Amino acid sequence: MQILTNPQELTAQCRQWHKDGETIALVPTMGYYHAGHESLMERGRQLGSKLVVSLFVNPTQFGPNEDLDAYPRDHERDAAIARSHGADLLFMPEAGSMYAKDHATWVEVPDMARGLCGASRPIHFRGVCTVVMKLFQLTQADVAVFGQKDWQQQAIIRRMVRDLNVPVRIETQPIVREADGLALSSRNVYMTAEERAQAPQLHKGLELARALARQGERNAGILRDAVLRYWAENLPLGRLDYLSVVDAESLEPLDTLNGRSLMACAVRMGKARLIDNILLED
Ligand code: PAF
Repeated sequence: MQILTNPQELTAQCRQWHKDGETIALVPTMGYYHAGHESLMERGRQLGSKLVVSLFVNPTQFGPNEDLDAYPRDHERDAAIARSHGADLLFMPEAGSMYAKDHATWVEVPDMARGLCGASRPIHFRGVCTVVMKLFQLTQADVAVFGQKDWQQQAIIRRMVRDLNVPVRIETQPIVREADGLALSSRNVYMTAEERAQAPQLHKGLELARALARQGERNAGILRDAVLRYWAENLPLGRLDYLSVVDAESLEPLDTLNGRSLMACAVRMGKARLIDNILLED
């Protein structure tokens, strides 16, 4: 596995691979790998003849009071994991080589970035779209793999790729969970033991909504109230950021389930902000 930090060298290598008839799968990450990232790498390995993993804690997607400096990092361990999943290239740039001092160009999908996580993280998706677009340009990847835990992120990236005719296919991988149902996240390490013990109730609340939907409940408000009641009892350490029912593709809020409805949430548990989501219908 090659490790590159220089964006120009990444492009040169990817161009050469394309000339040689290889196809490139890209897995963009911010590191501190867990089994969720590993599943993205496994999928990437199947989809391209060359697998590029990027590891970059992208500063432009963090707000001024967010955890950019505290974001967990372990580059040595991450490199070993990427290697063990068959990555051909690990790209680990410095922020200065990704963003010029006078960087002034942004990619935005404002209509899809206003709700859900965007409501409390107003510049987040602009930073995500911009860095992901840069990675697509640098690698000319044929396919890129994202996780469904960040459902809003992958929906926005799909729209960006469609609207800007970016020649890359977007693949998404299911959420990987702990045995007790908690979605894996690099930020889970921020929780105390007590918070961690309650955290699986987040997903249990969403499962309750799906069970009610399967029994025929179509009213999004009723489903939402049922989850909030469940959390009030079983997740007392949680502070709600949002709980919404939206169209899974457009992310438009729904009053009534429409056949492809997603329930998504963010809840703060102490220092951790946990996100999760569930498709309410099959
Ligand atoms: O999901 C993430 O880890 C990041 O948002 C991404 C896609 C790597 C962009 O920085």
